[in-house]
Amino acid sequence: MKEIKNMGKLESFWIENTEKTNYPVLEEGLSVDVAILGAGIAGITSALFLKEAGLSVALIEAGKVIKDVTANTTAKVTAAHNVIYSNLESHFGKDGSRIYAEANQAAIDKIESLIKERNIDCDFKRLQCYVYSENANDIDKLKKEAKSAADAGLEASYTESSPLPFDIAGAVRYENQAEFHPRKYLLNLIKSIPGEGSYIFENTRAHEVKEGDINEISTDKGPIKAKNVIIATHFPIYDPSHLFAKMYPSMSYALGLYINEPFPEGMYISTEPTFTYRSTPSDKGELIIASGANHKVGHEPDTIAFYKKLENHARDHFNVKSIDYHWSTQDNITMDKVPYIGKAESKSKGVYVATGFMKWGMTNGTVAAMILSDLILGKNNPWSSFFDPSRSKPVLESTKEFIGTNVSVAKELLSGRISRPKSMKPSELQNGEGKILNVDGKKVAAYKDKDGKVYAVSSVCVHLGCQVNWNNAEKTWDCPCHGSRYRHDGKVIHPPALRNLKEYNDLEK
Ligand code: FES
Repeated sequence: MKEIKNMGKLESFWIENTEKTNYPVLEEGLSVDVAILGAGIAGITSALFLKEAGLSVALIEAGKVIKDVTANTTAKVTAAHNVIYSNLESHFGKDGSRIYAEANQAAIDKIESLIKERNIDCDFKRLQCYVYSENANDIDKLKKEAKSAADAGLEASYTESSPLPFDIAGAVRYENQAEFHPRKYLLNLIKSIPGEGSYIFENTRAHEVKEGDINEISTDKGPIKAKNVIIATHFPIYDPSHLFAKMYPSMSYALGLYINEPFPEGMYISTEPTFTYRSTPSDKGELIIASGANHKVGHEPDTIAFYKKLENHARDHFNVKSIDYHWSTQDNITMDKVPYIGKAESKSKGVYVATGFMKWGMTNGTVAAMILSDLILGKNNPWSSFFDPSRSKPVLESTKEFIGTNVSVAKELLSGRISRPKSMKPSELQNGEGKILNVDGKKVAAYKDKDGKVYAVSSVCVHLGCQVNWNNAEKTWDCPCHGSRYRHDGKVIHPPALRNLKEYNDLEK
């Protein structure tokens, strides 16, 4: 049985060294000005801005606040989103590229100003970010990117040197970027939300939104009425515009490791394949956060191999002393590489969505909060039409991506239906093994834990019916179509699915 060895705890460093939260569960119906679904950076920052503007808010989280994607990021607070400005310029023109740069750079400034105002101790630091390649074939691409980024208004320039302890072919160097500890930052912001008619509820899962002059949100604990609703649940739990068909979820892996020499000051991200490095203070000294080895969620049968790939990259480039943490996360990649932030559909009156942050959620999530709070407060926002989910772009390239994404979903649906898994009982699995099995003609997602306890659930994702796949590193069932994820026992942990996989209890007879 394959296992992860010598990679420390399976937990994000950001979660491990910060306090746990204990907000109440919603117990009865409630009415507020704004209901915000999802307590990551976009939801929390929106809730703060709206409460400070005098509205009552209810922040609803299906699990615990700041535990999902936001707590599993590398937390680079930057507008240097790998190679993006040359692409934005060709899709949206120089104006589009400028708006994206301006919004994301403004998000860094907004985060910094909140940290200063509130005196938050969250290891925030301004520093340079390098988008680099070790491959000489990428030089022209990086030169073009440096020019597009500078034309978009960022302090960006092409260079062939960097502080990294290995040779690079070229890089775009961005000045004035930043890094921080995302949970230390958000645990401070979130404290200002409850009180004076505003609330935070944990372990309260929103199921549906019924639009009207006053919107009604049904949850597993009780109803909420609100004039405005923000859906910030990563994959939208209410999606009248079918955004799920216009993005795909991509998984990334992270390691928290120590090296035998000082880490070169800065943040670094390679072009293709993408690997990224930054450092952060820890009790044991400077911890390096390495990330990369991306793939589409649910598409790889051996996810342990991706941790290994990341480890190999880190060991090839740094003198690694120990690996103390490993974790993974996923984010949604949109067709035209721009997040969807705005009305859930063009005719929605007070329902808004924020998704598709392209793995740059620290700034894009803050941009979402700035845009959505302005829209709800009736203020003009100079970026809102560019990020609007119903924007008339994409152009040709994005259309190709759209078709590719949906052909891949159709293939997954079909292959799940025609696949012929091995005929065996779940109890015949090895300890620690998870597999789709054929049990008396029924397709079963079965797992036997290390102590021999068997879990058997339906293999059919409750979102739209694709077949889930086993993730051997995290011990989860992952859906290859739109990235729903379930625990080994079938309990849903990640939308768009909102319900658990059906349990099978009588398969051994
Ligand atoms: Fe859409 Fe599973 S997430 S079918």
